[in-house]
Amino acid sequence: MSYENILFETQNGIGTITINRPNKLNALNKNTIQELHEALADANNDKQVKVIVLTGSGEKAFVAGADISEFAHFDTENGEKLAAKGQELLFDFIENLSTPVIAAVNGFALGGGLELAMACHLRIASDNAKMGLPETSLGVIPGYGGTQRLPQLIGKGRAMELIFTAGMIDASTALQYGLVNYVTTQEELVPFCYKMAEKMMRNSSVAIAAAIKSVNAGFKDGMDGYKVEISEFGNCFGTEDFKEGTSAFLEKRKAEFPGE
Ligand code: COA
Repeated sequence: MSYENILFETQNGIGTITINRPNKLNALNKNTIQELHEALADANNDKQVKVIVLTGSGEKAFVAGADISEFAHFDTENGEKLAAKGQELLFDFIENLSTPVIAAVNGFALGGGLELAMACHLRIASDNAKMGLPETSLGVIPGYGGTQRLPQLIGKGRAMELIFTAGMIDASTALQYGLVNYVTTQEELVPFCYKMAEKMMRNSSVAIAAAIKSVNAGFKDGMDGYKVEISEFGNCFGTEDFKEGTSAFLEKRKAEFPGE
């Protein structure tokens, strides 16, 4: 499958998706959102892909936001549709994938760019990264889940400050806030993500998928995360991975998970 605005390669069980519009600082236009949806769906359905790493091309930006030129003329109805479609195709879609997605934040992650990083399961940033939700400076609010996921990750007070001031924070502040898990140099960023991916790949992909479902349930309206955890915990007992993981432990050998 060939794409216009993204690069997608799979190696050693890791699917790497790179948003590739460096001249526009990888801003998310409609086509890029659609292509990301397709690549993510393909990676998630490919049993060989155990972890997905999502990054931006060039040295300047992860993603500098939704493409402002595409929505500047929108009316109320189109604005609402833009947010709904984007959340469905990309932001909620990533969060609910069964394959873990690591955001390698290699520069500006602003507006839709930070919202994209926040929809991923975890974030690693390079030391030049700058993050923020500048939408109020454009007369709008974050529409791709930013008003929900930023407070979940850094707390309500800090999230409100960032949204109201349209300010940016640097990588070390993001680390201190818990918005990113680690900060590396630019050169080390993707290799660091791969090393983390390799640690995940030693474990049961079926159990990781169940963990994603259970953690996410705690943040969903009307869902009892504890109940989902009980049910997912029980389901694990019926899997080949559970049989292999527990047998390997008792036989004092390394588990070879079939991923079933
Ligand atoms: N949508 C569309 N185009 C964007 C964009 C966005 N969100 N962010 C950057 N670009 C484009 C610029 O228009 C410019 O295109 P051009 O060369 O054809 O004029 C190109 O990317 C480079 O950006 P530029 O602004 O020249 O780079 P800079 O280093 O001076 O500034 C930023 C970098 C990130 C501070 C600045 O681009 C910016 O503020 N972007 C918008 C951020 C934003 O508000 N995002 C939220 C959107 S909801």
